Amino acid sequence: MTQDVWNAVDGYVTGRIVGEDEALASTEQASDAAGMPPISVAAAHGKLLHILALSIGARRVLEIGTLGGYSTIWLARALPDDGRLVTLEYDPRHAEVARANLKHAGLEGRVEVIVGAALETLPSLEAEEPFDLFFIDADKENNADYFRWAVKLSHPGSLIYVDNVVRGGRVADYGDTSPMVEGTRRLYEAVGAEPGVAATAVQTVSVRGYDGFLLARVN
Ligand code: SAH
Ligand code: DHB
Ligand code: MG
Repeated sequence: MTQDVWNAVDGYVTGRIVGEDEALASTEQASDAAGMPPISVAAAHGKLLHILALSIGARRVLEIGTLGGYSTIWLARALPDDGRLVTLEYDPRHAEVARANLKHAGLEGRVEVIVGAALETLPSLEAEEPFDLFFIDADKENNADYFRWAVKLSHPGSLIYVDNVVRGGRVADYGDTSPMVEGTRRLYEAVGAEPGVAATAVQTVSVRGYDGFLLARVN
């Protein structure tokens, strides 16, 4: 079972129950045309984020890693009219493309894209109300710090979802000491050392290959 099968099944599922509409498809096209890497979440994962946000009645969502705004759209669409999504993006060109995609999706009033390295922009959020849901999907080297920031900006019942925590199985290959994989291991250490959450990680296969997500609920 390899990538061809995962692609076929992802296409099967997405075509039947996920419901990827024009705004989402054109977001992918515009991001591709702008030369961005094809690393947005698969549609089926975007829908999972959407359902999680709906399930907890999320009103405030914090995303770290915007790219072209594809996952942002899935999440923002789960919010009520007065809901708010803040998304942190390092690259101003990505932020610009994302803002255009969000506008095209009719979500510009609900979403704020903050440009800068997330570790530098996160402190500005401490003065705000806590967030209900966090989607961490930026540079994997800083994931442990992003997780600790999420806990700090959370309330009891908040969900913290971290993308890309399996990396083709490399996380459990101790011969692999690349910065991205070491960063992922520091994330697991940080989550394991945090008594205030219930957490798990699930392996996934999709058009984005073999990876996985980590989900934590703040007690
Ligand atoms: N969440 C998006 C994909 C994000 S890809 C989706 O699923 O549609 C990762 C993004 O994180 C890239 O746009 C990259 O520029 C951004 N990024 C990398 N390092 C960052 C940092 N230190 N702070 C904020 N964003 C960062
Ligand atoms: C990469 C980053 C992602 O967020 C992702 O979903 C896939 C790949 C990367 O940097 O390679
Ligand atoms: Mg990702």
